[in-house]
Amino acid sequence: WSLGARSASVDRGSAPDFTAKEIDEQPAAARRLLDGLLGRLQGGQLLEDLGLGAPARIRLVACGTSGHAAEVTARVLAVEGAIPTRVVTASEPDLAVPEPGTLTVAVSQSGETADVLAALDRWGDPVLAITNAPRSSLARRADAVLGLGCGPEVGVAATKTFTAQVVAGVALALAVASGTGRLSAARLAHLEEVLDGLPMRLATTAARAAGPAADLAEELAGEPGVVFVSRGAGVPYAREGALKLEELTYRWVEAVPAGELKHGPIALLGPGTPAVVVAAKPRGRLAVGIAEMTARGARAVVVGPPEDATLPTCAPSEEPPWGPLEAAIALQLFAREMTVRLGHEVDRPRNLAKSVTVE
Ligand code: G6P
Repeated sequence: WSLGARSASVDRGSAPDFTAKEIDEQPAAARRLLDGLLGRLQGGQLLEDLGLGAPARIRLVACGTSGHAAEVTARVLAVEGAIPTRVVTASEPDLAVPEPGTLTVAVSQSGETADVLAALDRWGDPVLAITNAPRSSLARRADAVLGLGCGPEVGVAATKTFTAQVVAGVALALAVASGTGRLSAARLAHLEEVLDGLPMRLATTAARAAGPAADLAEELAGEPGVVFVSRGAGVPYAREGALKLEELTYRWVEAVPAGELKHGPIALLGPGTPAVVVAAKPRGRLAVGIAEMTARGARAVVVGPPEDATLPTCAPSEEPPWGPLEAAIALQLFAREMTVRLGHEVDRPRNLAKSVTVE
């Protein structure tokens, strides 16, 4: 099962680079994906449409950015479905003990990542691929394909495929949770409504965060490194924001749950050290982390609702189980702006490949 054909166009139009174009395309990509998925979640219909049975447990396998989307998916499966779930880094699959009734979900935008393909050979489970490449090696190997339908992503650092992977993963998680009866019809309807508003919130966030992201990039371009923190459902987005900055600007990054700061990373902080805080629940515990950092002179950069944020987003009033996805777009804009200021190649960062086809 796949969501429509890939667009053949790889023209960057008037955008200064493909990464800028692909950041901009996220609201439309999310809209297309949601239009294909919402309405298939109740009672686990999506699984049936994919030709899959109800899993007793789920193993998500991925690398890099796709691993962060897998972490978000795992959290929704746990919170809404109480489904036993684990995320396996594809290059380190050895400890993943085979368990009967497992569905393996391979998340890979390219569908060609060698470590992901090799990991699948170790397990005999049915495989669902979440990929942007419906004719890839992964799609051919999988029993079912949930296509992202984003169109080609040329920028090496993933942007639109990340938000699309989160949307697809969340839809899958909600379908599985609804299929078990654990997620009520009323709660599902509420979460579908919140998901339906996501494209609009992504577009508003892009508009709101663009100017502040440029200003911040100007201010921080000379900094050698940046610490990223969050809590709970925000942690995968802090990791993804850090990865984006590292990939594009070659700055050192450290991304940790705020509670881990005191166990090591706090030693990195000195006067003016930039500390990006992805706002997430519980805010109280996050506030403690911010206070710990600012007490060491760190410069806190909050990404979240406009009231107290340096990088403002447009988030739903109540945090959904998939967390502050809108923050991803603000952090992509920030990483790209800093790259431009540093004079680095935005679409093709050094030493990196769009898909890594060697183990
Ligand atoms: C490479 C890319 C990353 C990507 C990772 C996984 O390292 O540079 O942007 O996240 O591969 O790729 P995949 O195609 O499996 O999602």
